[in-house]
Amino acid sequence: MTSTRPLSLVTGGSSGIGFELAAQFAEHGYDVAISGRSERVFASADRLTKLGVEAYAYQGDAATFEGVEGFWEFTLSQGRPVAAAALNVGIGRGGAFVDNTLEDEFAIIAVNITGTVHMAKRVVQHMVRNGDGKILIVSSVSATTPTPFETVYGPSKAFGYSFAESIREELRGTGVSVTALLPGATNSDFHANAGMGDTKYGDNSWKNDKTEVARQGFEALMNGEDHVVGGDEATKQVVIDNRTIPEAVKAAHHAKGARPNQRR
Ligand SMILES: NC(=O)c1ccc[n+]([C@@H]2O[C@H](COP(=O)([O-])OP(=O)(O)OC[C@H]3O[C@@H](n4cnc5c(N)ncnc54)[C@H](OP(=O)(O)O)[C@@H]3O)[C@@H](O)[C@H]2O)c1
Repeated sequence: MTSTRPLSLVTGGSSGIGFELAAQFAEHGYDVAISGRSERVFASADRLTKLGVEAYAYQGDAATFEGVEGFWEFTLSQGRPVAAAALNVGIGRGGAFVDNTLEDEFAIIAVNITGTVHMAKRVVQHMVRNGDGKILIVSSVSATTPTPFETVYGPSKAFGYSFAESIREELRGTGVSVTALLPGATNSDFHANAGMGDTKYGDNSWKNDKTEVARQGFEALMNGEDHVVGGDEATKQVVIDNRTIPEAVKAAHHAKGARPNQRR
């Protein structure tokens, strides 16, 4: 029999913050469709079904048109309206802009910007037609500061934050809400995947807990808040301070954490 639970989707839901967001949906009675690039997406979906819901796994590359469109069509093929969507997938790349390849920079833009716009277009049009829906766009505290040695990443996350707030305003009165989640540094595989293992950010021991970050994001999504900073009080204070600290000062501070060979 087809499930009668509401359906959610989480891009990049196979691990890290995305998996924890998917677990939040599952724990609150949503079935969940998750995507990932590697085969582990299938094992991750199995783990989610143990929370008592249906979980649907899609393996595809979010840096490509086919990968994004494929996940959307796969989600629709479950035969129910999408009630909530977390546009979470994102990648980084450590190192200096002068050294990194153009392909590396374009991959960040493809996943974090082009892919997010692509999935948002599908999700927004679907939800507005239904007059109902909740959208979470995962940005970052990096949206509030220049990010030297993650040169294209921070700007891509600033895009996500501004994009979320823009759509939110446009959708006022449609029944569809948009929330931005700005996690601080969080204990996932993100920095290792970004080749930043030898930086201060590569050390997971001091970072925010991914389960707590996802819980905060889910709660803000359910409450229809415009944004939430994911992490502890010190993380939230950074975002408050970043409103008034000059860009050049913030850039110098970020460089200390992201510069290669600086691990504490
Ligand atoms: N961790 C942090 O410190 C932090 C801080 C602020 C914001 N964020 C944001 O939070 C979001 C999630 O990050 P995370 O920390 O959970 O990262 P993560 O641990 O690296 O997990 C990334 C997830 O995205 C998937 N993914 C990566 N590239 C993909 C691609 N090309 N196609 C399809 N799936 C892909 C991965 O799937 P596979 O495992 O199959 O590759 C995985 O499920 C990102 O948008 C990131 O910018 C993270």
